[in-house]
Amino acid sequence: MKTKIFALTALLVSPALLAETVSISSPDGKITLSVNDDKAPSYQISFNGKKTILPSRLGMAFKNAPAFGEGFTISKSETASANQTWQQPWGERKHVVDNHNELLVTFSAQRESANTFKVRFRVFDDGLGFRYEVPKQKGLDKVEITNELTEFSIEHAKKATAWWIPARGWNRYEYIYKTTDVESVDRVHTPFTFKLDSGTHISIHEAALVDYAAMTLNQQRPGTLKADLTPWSDGTLVKTQTNFKTPWRTIQISKDAVGLLNSDLILNLNEPSKIADTSWIEPGKYVGIWWGMHVRENTWGSGDIHGATTSETKRYMDFAAKYGFDGVLVEGWNIGWDGDWFHNGDLFNFTKAYDDFDIKAVTDYGLDKGVRLIGHHETSGSVTNYRNQMTDAFALYEKHGVRQVKTGYVADGGNIKRIDKNGIVRKEWHDGQFMVTEYLHNIKEAAKYKISINTHEPIKDTGLRRTYPNWIAREGARGQEFNAWGTPPNPPEHTTILPFTRMLSGPMDFTPGIFNMGFNGLGDKTNRPQTTLAKQLALYVVLYSPIQMAADLPRHYEANQEAFQFIRDVPTDWQESKAIAGEVGEYVAFARQERDGKDWYLGALTDEQARTLKLSLDFLDSKTRYQAQIYRDGKNAEWINNPYEMIIEQKNVTAKDMLTLPLATSGGVAIRFKALN
Ligand code: NOJ
Ligand code: CA
Repeated sequence: MKTKIFALTALLVSPALLAETVSISSPDGKITLSVNDDKAPSYQISFNGKKTILPSRLGMAFKNAPAFGEGFTISKSETASANQTWQQPWGERKHVVDNHNELLVTFSAQRESANTFKVRFRVFDDGLGFRYEVPKQKGLDKVEITNELTEFSIEHAKKATAWWIPARGWNRYEYIYKTTDVESVDRVHTPFTFKLDSGTHISIHEAALVDYAAMTLNQQRPGTLKADLTPWSDGTLVKTQTNFKTPWRTIQISKDAVGLLNSDLILNLNEPSKIADTSWIEPGKYVGIWWGMHVRENTWGSGDIHGATTSETKRYMDFAAKYGFDGVLVEGWNIGWDGDWFHNGDLFNFTKAYDDFDIKAVTDYGLDKGVRLIGHHETSGSVTNYRNQMTDAFALYEKHGVRQVKTGYVADGGNIKRIDKNGIVRKEWHDGQFMVTEYLHNIKEAAKYKISINTHEPIKDTGLRRTYPNWIAREGARGQEFNAWGTPPNPPEHTTILPFTRMLSGPMDFTPGIFNMGFNGLGDKTNRPQTTLAKQLALYVVLYSPIQMAADLPRHYEANQEAFQFIRDVPTDWQESKAIAGEVGEYVAFARQERDGKDWYLGALTDEQARTLKLSLDFLDSKTRYQAQIYRDGKNAEWINNPYEMIIEQKNVTAKDMLTLPLATSGGVAIRFKALN
């Protein structure tokens, strides 16, 4: 009866006859969002008065219920706004401002069941987010989503330039970025960043990906990218139950490239921390038994050149203590690495060490010197095997004072192995709903043991570090390891694209700091870092992570103590961060101030083009004098034959100064501004 009355009222006001539009703007008025119900629910966005996202569909389809789409009209709209500041336990900045206007639109259809959903929009000065909220209702209880209809129609897509990696590929997120016009992309991962003809920069991503499939984007029609959710092994996209909320679909918008880097949109759309006491979550720097395996001086498995031995770990702990590192990562310590570990994840035992590795001896030794062991759990994608041992594995590490564990999910895309409740083997994607939940389970479980997680071969970051600050970093792009064995290795432009794409989602464990580029001979173009030494230092400031590795072998640092000093000095936790210059795929410069301290740091780097940057130091405190300790490319430096030539010099500066910084081909500069008063 109730439904009938509703249908009647709806007919009387007859919203279907007259399309309705509701609009809202960002606090600074520059972004305007309009929501419309002409034919079907849709939205559009303008920026500085210009069309940016053209009318684009909203909605979703279900397996056993009619879709949310055509026939739905706006039945209610409510507005709200917020302007607040919250604190991060660690991060690019301590204080984050969340200033937005909100529009909550209810869509309804004139039918008896599956007839209502809401879309909540939040518009900030740096972009916007929207999410679907589906209440309990007749005809929708347990649901399977078979299609998310969300679209992003891009103005003048043929004239827009995009930087992208393919989605649903065997190598997960570990691809070299392609640069094409937007119409030439096919199925891509997010953050998906592009520049319109007008110079406006946009990045589409998502926030708070919980209990849902990751959104990739597929070119549905020229210029229209459609949400393409990563499926389960059985083809379903999302299995859920009303009342549910989807992740936020986010659109960062800026007049220039640098503006994308100074946005907190993704974090602002995540829930506050669920961990009350975060004092055990420790940013810091680490070294590890790691690069030796990647350049094949050591093995993960047992034998003559086994890396993870008690004596080698103690040697690394001595090195860490001497030079001020907090942790030593040890990979290959546990049973399971012998043979083809890539394909035999079921053999990993997460509590049993090889005979030549004594976990108690190394952790006692380290704790005595103030250095913690960093744990390692490689699963090779056998997630049921890992889940069965997870509790014991964390308990063992906690007992030995371990506060951080690096996990790994090396397996081809679509080949995560799980055993379902009937004992049947299923193969899942790293970014399908099953794994989204599995990765988060690992984080929550680790928190019970006061352990932070650095996930490799992860699900992409969607800002969940705000809610679970023990998710301290992750990989999720081509990191340094590709320079050891990747074919081809990371090209010079790689780290000039990462900040504007992958890094918009959150911290990355890139593992910078390779000092010896010539492990295969400098002339080797297949496997070596394609950078200068100064650029390796710049990475510590440019690629944000609360944990940073000094990835090379100790002997290479001891051979170049002067350059190593920068890695020893640079912090990993910041009071404030400011991107100060950059163009996607060309160059980028960041300034960051140490957390609860006075010193500032600057990192800048370039692609294969040598260039000179003129940077104003107006980010510095105006009343403080600083000694700038500059590490820059030497006069004749260039990445191919002369990557090591570096000038280390000091200059006294203030906020009124400009620095002229010449960068070599694939070069960089790293600066510490030491406060003098
Ligand atoms: C891939 C990770 O990215 C790398 O850092 C690690 O050493 C190997 N897997 C082995 O776990
Ligand atoms: Ca990897």
